[in-house]
Amino acid sequence: MTIWNKLLPFFVSGFLTCFSHPIRAETTSAIFAKYPNIYFIETGSYHGDGIQKALDAGFPQIFSIEVAPRYVEHCHKRFANNNRVTLLLGDSTNVLPQLLTQISSPATFWLDGHYSWGTARGDLNSPILEELEAIRQHPIKTHTILIDDIRLLGTIDFDFLELDDIIKKLLEINPHYKIHFENGFIPNDVLVATP
Ligand SMILES: C[S@@+](CC[C@H](N)C(=O)[O-])C[C@H]1O[C@@H](n2cnc3c(N)ncnc32)[C@H](O)[C@@H]1O
Repeated sequence: MTIWNKLLPFFVSGFLTCFSHPIRAETTSAIFAKYPNIYFIETGSYHGDGIQKALDAGFPQIFSIEVAPRYVEHCHKRFANNNRVTLLLGDSTNVLPQLLTQISSPATFWLDGHYSWGTARGDLNSPILEELEAIRQHPIKTHTILIDDIRLLGTIDFDFLELDDIIKKLLEINPHYKIHFENGFIPNDVLVATP
């Protein structure tokens, strides 16, 4: 295998991630609105587009966790006067378990905090299994879990995790979860687990 064979998936996934957000921006709030709960919990704030879509979808309380201070500062400015939005700085691996101690009713999760081209990362390119483990340890078993960028499974952005790894972990949270997919940047790019 040449160096280009190794690097190609990295460049392709980065390219797709860079261009995905504007393209699917019109549809994400409609997807969120189908899974209402009091709490919307996002990992990976980035420029705040997920937060805005959660506001548009009508969630009363939105928490968003971001590892990069520059993106948290950006979102602080963007949502400065919005008391429905709480921004939390840090690696979701550490911050999500702390946040969950305050959550006393089912939440809708938007798990989107992974390394992508030009953004930041925590200890891992993708903390998805650690995030799901934090949710598994929470006493409520009826959360709704949305996982974005499914197309990037099997690539370096997801530390080469595969769909089977994700589904196995989801079923540890609740063996009765129903799993289906919504369209994102490409068809079926958003995994949805509903109780
Ligand atoms: C794909 S973007 C998120 C896009 C955003 N959720 C949206 O819907 O527009 C990924 C974000 O996750 C952040 N990130 C990466 N690893 C993280 C981690 N371990 N904890 C929290 N945020 C992380 C990156 O800095 C980046 O801002």
